[in-house]
Amino acid sequence: MISLFFAVLVLGTNANPIQAQTQDDDFWRQNGTVPEPIACVSLPISTTPLNVGDTVTITSTELCDYYGILLEPSSEGGFDIGWMQQGHWVSFDMALSTAGLFNMTIRTASKTGEGAFDLVNQGTSEVYKVFSGVANTQGWQNWETMDAGLVALRKGSTTLRVNSLQSGWNLLSMNFTLVEAFITYDYMVFAQNFDRGHVGVELAESSEGTLNLDYIFSGDELFFNLTLPQSGKYEIYARISNPEDVGSFAIAHRQTGQVFGMILTLPTTSSWGEWTTVLVGEAYFDAGTHNMELFVLQGGFNLEFLGLNFIDSATGDSEDNHYLVPAKDYTNTNGVEVDPNNGNVGSLDPGDWIEYSLNVVSTGVYILQFYVASPEGWGSFKVVNPQTQEIYGGFDSLPTTESWFSWVSVDIPNVSLSQGTVPIKLEITNGGFNFFVIAFELASDHEEEV
Ligand SMILES: *[C@@H]1O[C@H](CO)[C@@H](O)[C@H](O)[C@H]1NC(C)=O
Ligand SMILES: *[C@@H]1O[C@H](CO)[C@@H](O)[C@H](O)[C@H]1NC(C)=O
Ligand SMILES: *[C@@H]1O[C@H](CO)[C@@H](O)[C@H](O)[C@H]1NC(C)=O
Ligand SMILES: *[C@@H]1O[C@H](CO)[C@@H](O)[C@H](O)[C@H]1NC(C)=O
Ligand SMILES: *[C@@H]1O[C@H](CO)[C@@H](O)[C@H](O)[C@H]1NC(C)=O
Repeated sequence: MISLFFAVLVLGTNANPIQAQTQDDDFWRQNGTVPEPIACVSLPISTTPLNVGDTVTITSTELCDYYGILLEPSSEGGFDIGWMQQGHWVSFDMALSTAGLFNMTIRTASKTGEGAFDLVNQGTSEVYKVFSGVANTQGWQNWETMDAGLVALRKGSTTLRVNSLQSGWNLLSMNFTLVEAFITYDYMVFAQNFDRGHVGVELAESSEGTLNLDYIFSGDELFFNLTLPQSGKYEIYARISNPEDVGSFAIAHRQTGQVFGMILTLPTTSSWGEWTTVLVGEAYFDAGTHNMELFVLQGGFNLEFLGLNFIDSATGDSEDNHYLVPAKDYTNTNGVEVDPNNGNVGSLDPGDWIEYSLNVVSTGVYILQFYVASPEGWGSFKVVNPQTQEIYGGFDSLPTTESWFSWVSVDIPNVSLSQGTVPIKLEITNGGFNFFVIAFELASDHEEEV
């Protein structure tokens, strides 16, 4: 007890204090060793990619931070991590030269068959894996290797933390074996990285062992942050499952509505268990953190991750030229209602009108697109500038859609818009349709034309 207490005092003055814990009342905490304090660091990343089948091993003594645990001599040589009570944790540095799906195995012992943990990113708290059901090995030093399932990990340096969620187990080592390398994505946004706080999308285990966003609905806005180290042009990919042959979405900036990629027809997969990767678009991004959203135009598909690849550092004039304004974000209206479940506006009747403010970044000729749904092909409207009374265009009839929430766009191809805030007004002349989103895209630069 004296030596343990002394160790804690010494550690308390360390520049990178290890958070050892005294539990004088806990008789289990006898005979263990307080680990040497090692600070967690960002490990260098090898330039050699991993091959399928390559294994990255983490052993107990490689820990770089911990809370509550002690090391003890293992019956297999070396030391294991004991005292993994609920609330205790241990962290390890890991550097991966390849992003991919890894098969995770753990070597554990439990005399009582208790024990559960989650595996998280210590820096970002991102959860990679939740595991319950450590096997009963009939002894605290009888070791068994358990299959913990697949885990999707990014390329780069990470401090992994194992949080014990249930007392009653010891940990010796963990292996991560590459099962599938992701197609060289430089940056990935996994299902668990999306903010689902305001939508009903569930996180579920996918057939590929990772988490996926399960059954995304029309109108869902899934927020995520994108932190990119360098400015330049990127390709955006999405891994989706789509047996119902539906689905379209845009990747947009959450505040400005700028569209970085949009896919109007997702490919079909044979079942929910089959996954395919689609190119959503190419776009220029500045270095830094972007508050983004995945804006679902038509739901009914599942998503595992977004993957971004850096192409080059050139800046392009296609920057800032494609924007979305959700129909519910009107500035003024007469007579329409927002559907709380689907996020569209409805209850459209002759004489109703809706006004929007378009934030036009550069003067030019734009295509205006209106995403509408009309199961009977009903509906007509005019689009005007309420300040200048200029008539931009209109529709005497709308295409017939499969449902009230399968969106198709009707376009006005040739609208000159000046930089600044441009008001537009939709004047409804016949109802019987729903309206979901306005997209406007620069068709040609005005300056270049004159
Ligand atoms: C600690 O070691 C002593 C001496 O070997 C032993 O009597 C005691 O049972 C051990 N305590 C635990 C919790 O294993
Ligand atoms: C993961 O590893 C375990 C243990 O070696 C093995 O039984 C399992 O089939 C592997 N899973 C995959 C998907 O490779
Ligand atoms: C990790 O792989 C090594 C080498 O194949 C093996 O000795 C060890 O038991 C494995 N550990 C786990 C947790 O799978
Ligand atoms: C994105 O970053 C903002 C701060 O810029 C933060 O408020 C928000 O919670 C983050 N969202 C996600 C999904 O991480
Ligand atoms: C676009 O409008 C301009 C005048 O505003 C006209 O000269 C031009 O022919 C139109 N182009 C198309 C494709 O409709």
